[in-house]
Amino acid sequence: MIEFHEEQQLFHIKSRDFSYILQVIEHGILVNRYFGKSIKKFSDSNKITYLDRAFSGNPTSQNRTFSLDTLPLEFSSTGLGDFRTSSLEVLGQHGSALSLTYRSHRIYQGKEQLSGLPSSYDKEGQVESLEIDLYDSLADVTVTLYYHLFEKANYLVRSAKVTAGQYPVKVNKLMSFTVDLPRSYFKVHTLTGRYGHEKEWNVTDLPDGRFDISSIRGASSHSKTPFMALANPDTSETEGDIYSAQLVYSGNFRAFVEKTALKTSRFGMGINDDQFSWRLEADQSFQSPEVLLSYTDKGFRGLTNDSQAFVREHICRGPFVEKLRPILINNWEATYFDFTEAKLHALAEKASQVGIELFVLDDGWFGKRNSDTSSLGDWYENTEKLPSGLKGLAQKVNDLGMQFGLWVEPEMISEDSDLYRQHPDWAIQTKGRTHTYSREQLVLDYANPQVCDYIVNSISKVLESANISYIKWDMNRNMTNLPEAYANHENQEFFHRYILGLYDVLERLTQTFPDVLFESCSGGGGRYDLGMLHYMPQTWASDNTDAIGRLSIQEGTSLIYPSITMGSHVSASPNHQTGRHTSLQTRGNVAMLGNLGYELDLTTLSDKDLSDISQQVKLYKGIRETIQLGDYYRLAKTDNYYAYNYVSKDQSQFVFTFVKLLSVAESPSIQVKLSGLDSEKEYYCQELDARFYGDELMNIGLTMPHVQEDYFSVQYIFNII
Ligand code: DGJ
Repeated sequence: MIEFHEEQQLFHIKSRDFSYILQVIEHGILVNRYFGKSIKKFSDSNKITYLDRAFSGNPTSQNRTFSLDTLPLEFSSTGLGDFRTSSLEVLGQHGSALSLTYRSHRIYQGKEQLSGLPSSYDKEGQVESLEIDLYDSLADVTVTLYYHLFEKANYLVRSAKVTAGQYPVKVNKLMSFTVDLPRSYFKVHTLTGRYGHEKEWNVTDLPDGRFDISSIRGASSHSKTPFMALANPDTSETEGDIYSAQLVYSGNFRAFVEKTALKTSRFGMGINDDQFSWRLEADQSFQSPEVLLSYTDKGFRGLTNDSQAFVREHICRGPFVEKLRPILINNWEATYFDFTEAKLHALAEKASQVGIELFVLDDGWFGKRNSDTSSLGDWYENTEKLPSGLKGLAQKVNDLGMQFGLWVEPEMISEDSDLYRQHPDWAIQTKGRTHTYSREQLVLDYANPQVCDYIVNSISKVLESANISYIKWDMNRNMTNLPEAYANHENQEFFHRYILGLYDVLERLTQTFPDVLFESCSGGGGRYDLGMLHYMPQTWASDNTDAIGRLSIQEGTSLIYPSITMGSHVSASPNHQTGRHTSLQTRGNVAMLGNLGYELDLTTLSDKDLSDISQQVKLYKGIRETIQLGDYYRLAKTDNYYAYNYVSKDQSQFVFTFVKLLSVAESPSIQVKLSGLDSEKEYYCQELDARFYGDELMNIGLTMPHVQEDYFSVQYIFNII
């Protein structure tokens, strides 16, 4: 519920678990009075302390205790006395400082989709919205703050818009949100890493000054996720305060928290202001992407449950949101570029024999692509490699009872391609400077609408040419050598224009082909973010397919993203990235924590391995709904083991997984307590041939087998009796 109390000029936004309170005070300044655990009614118990603080400027000479530098501002400009990190910077004939004062507000039911940007939605029409206009009369600039309350889901979705009045201006910075909190004793949680090692759950003490994470790669990146959480230092899995923010965006971003001199903190997130500026003519607007803001006092489990549900129900779209995902075989690690149609067919035959449902043909099927040095842009089949063409191959796969899927990388162009020979100017480049290469490829200029049209047409032709049920949309380098307009430093609009072009292409393709399941990928999880998930409800989490390497990647991912969005494959042993040997059982148990797939050469496996895989596939079909649509619980994470529990929505089934790392001499006995079960109900586990009541498993726990083996794992499936 959103209340406005006229007399106090106070907005009280009441979510399921938190209150968010704003007030218009003296001089029309909008301040944040409270953000935290829900309260019924606000009566000003936390009075603002007004003191004459040295070196903090005052808007009038009569009152030395009123300063923008010390107030909990809701959105703040530079240059008028607030010396903390600003929320925006707008240049114009007025200079760069904006005096933002309250002008008007609107409260209404529902919410609009952002134009050209991915955004949250609500099918049930329960969202309530508040818009507040702040205005600077000298600059004739309006800043509109948006607040969309998803009360049941416990999220406040925020964004901001700058509208020029009679003068042109340049927006050099616009955060999607900032909020001032009255304290700074937080630990900062982020998901960081690198290629093959994405989404490490990283925890840092908030230092004096500013802590921030950002990307300037043209993509959200492997190394940083557009997510930040501030937690009380003693927050545990089940208890403790956490403020979290996630940006619905796939390009350059910044997330920051500043510990101020007076031990308050300012938390914010938005498009990266480095290498960004946007020109507005008179009466034009610039809208920021949305940010999902939330608070829970239920620890990391509270954060995970809320976030996973919100992403599934209010960010991912389309017919696949609630649809169980097919078990796939992907030929990448099975063959790389070295395949023939006969080889693919043999792989597909084996896959169908073990019960796999979707065959995915990865890189190498188009143009003259026999290595990663050519043909990106030439989206037509190589009939030397595929004599029956895509249509014929898809038909053969369909005849085996499987769906057919295909890899594409439509944002890229190889110098050695017909497309480059025809349109060398379509590659992102600075004229007069040599290219910077990465995987020997260049990026197509999606800021150019002609390029976007061309790609929509050529990918549509591919999709129409054969019975294709799935697309893996890859993106294997980051951006450099930006075009001249950018390099001249007149308007640094390129990065954002590229992302708008990308979203336009994705919108058109996913709307035209709603029955195709799109999985996004950027060399694994290089763009695993909410922007991409809005168009493509699944992501290939990492090119690291090693079961043990995957544990931390999947755990970080699952902190905020639902398992149904996470592609996870069983690959060969020894693993191609790490050289590690692991059992098929452990590879299967780890891959079954997400959307199960296989990525190894089934034609060379022993009958025993094939029969084990066929068992895994059968078993996964029986638990798929619980894994993909159920509730996820982290049960234990130590230096040497991980344990998880997935519980079906009706609590009738749960899947318990335990993975140990290294075998240790004289290892203590390990007991793991389960979570999320019905304490009154009895469950049967076939693997243990035993029955237990939910309360016993949750209060006492299960003893893990004592096995002297590295990378040992178990998976127990319990069904209600
Ligand atoms: C990077 C992806 O992450 C891999 O899975 C594979 O599709 C290769 N690209 C193909 O070039």
